[in-house]
Amino acid sequence: MSELALCATGIVREFRENGQTLRILDGLDLDVKKGEIVAILGVSGSGKSTLLSILGTLDRPDSGTMLLGGRDPFALSDRELSKLRANELGFMFQFHHLLPDLSALENVQLAARIAGVGFTEAADRARDLLGQVGLSQRETHRPGQLSGGERQRVALARALANKPSLVLADEPTGNLDPHNCKVLLDMLLDLAHAHQQAFLLATHDPNLASGADRRLRIVDGRLEELP
Ligand SMILES: Nc1ncnc2c1ncn2[C@@H]1O[C@H](COP(=O)(O)OP(=O)(O)O)[C@@H](O)[C@H]1O
Ligand SMILES: [Mg+2]
Repeated sequence: MSELALCATGIVREFRENGQTLRILDGLDLDVKKGEIVAILGVSGSGKSTLLSILGTLDRPDSGTMLLGGRDPFALSDRELSKLRANELGFMFQFHHLLPDLSALENVQLAARIAGVGFTEAADRARDLLGQVGLSQRETHRPGQLSGGERQRVALARALANKPSLVLADEPTGNLDPHNCKVLLDMLLDLAHAHQQAFLLATHDPNLASGADRRLRIVDGRLEELP
């Protein structure tokens, strides 16, 4: 079995605006080992979100190859791709994207249900994960009744609900104050290690990247290793 959670080679992505072509990703290569935590740094506009969208199979590259859990996601049918996404990937964004009418528990449970987990097991898993992010006392709260930091912790629990092999987190602390930022990041690193899940953490803040196993920076559409 492959030791890699993700293997991307020669990824190119261009956008055409007003007759101009912008080559945002220019032959980018990236390997992520199972259980590895990798920080993707780069100034605003350097292509971090573009890269994570492609790695998360939400967007397609203009060229390049990719293997997720040993499979080429872009060779799959839409149905198989949805299944791969639901089973292998977890997502976290700058804004939580929780469903406003569902409780914290239901938001996390739903993610497991979509991955095919039965109702009761999904609820058990959601309860367990909310406990791990310190929110056992907030199960029945709706997103609107939670603080910003708590919402992102629910979003973290949700990203892990399907036991993904790879979690893609795009500026997950971008909207938080320094204290809550650190709380979320410590939790994220602890859980990633505890569950042996690979994490790709995109951030423009070098301080956030210090806890990662590896730090990479997007420069001119490719990744360079940072110390
Ligand atoms: N759908 C799109 N259409 C046109 N340009 C885009 C699109 N998505 C991103 N871009 C451009 O690609 C560049 C990289 O964007 P993005 O990946 O969001 O950067 P980052 O996340 O590092 O801030 C930006 O210049 C942005 O304007
Ligand atoms: Mg971005």
